[in-house]
Amino acid sequence: MEGIVKIKDKEFVPYISEIDIQKRIVEVAAEVNRDYHGKSPLMIVVLNGAFMFAADLVRNLHIEPEIQFIRISTYGNSMSSSKDAQLLLGLEVDVEGRDIILIEDIVETGYTVGYFIDEVQKLAPSSIKLVSLLYKPEKFKGSYPPDYIGFEIPGAFVVGYGLDYAQQGRELRSIYQLKE
Ligand code: IMP
Repeated sequence: MEGIVKIKDKEFVPYISEIDIQKRIVEVAAEVNRDYHGKSPLMIVVLNGAFMFAADLVRNLHIEPEIQFIRISTYGNSMSSSKDAQLLLGLEVDVEGRDIILIEDIVETGYTVGYFIDEVQKLAPSSIKLVSLLYKPEKFKGSYPPDYIGFEIPGAFVVGYGLDYAQQGRELRSIYQLKE
């Protein structure tokens, strides 16, 4: 894993290596394969941050998922969470009676994805599960903790592997933590 990464005014230190991420994704995919054996779930990827995780996760699946993308507004350019999540890019498929798996990069307060789950629930899916690469249980205040979790991490801000700081750092292969 590379050394310290500088993005704008902040420094980030190596936190979860590319190898550890990939190993864990294989394990999470195995859980999804087991639980959805013989099913064709609708996997909804929450852009932008989850694009890299979703790509690696679905390549390890042996079920036949359908894949769609949505966008929910998040932090903008700051590091604080907002309760006013908004659906920016809507769902274009009928979810009634479907098994839904939402794919998130990180769940912190849980407000962002919670908002979306509440909306989707009104459309009468058969089931909804949430898979998140990262989960910050100390900061969680929502109603829907992830059903499948890559890594539980402390509250510190992280970047890389799809996650950004001020729209940068998404291309990094490993995950880095803000240097205090
Ligand atoms: P929540 O609504 O507080 O759960 O925030 C979830 C969203 O905030 C995620 O989808 C990310 O876009 C963003 N986010 C939360 N924590 C971090 C972090 O440590 N680094 C980068 N983005 C984060």
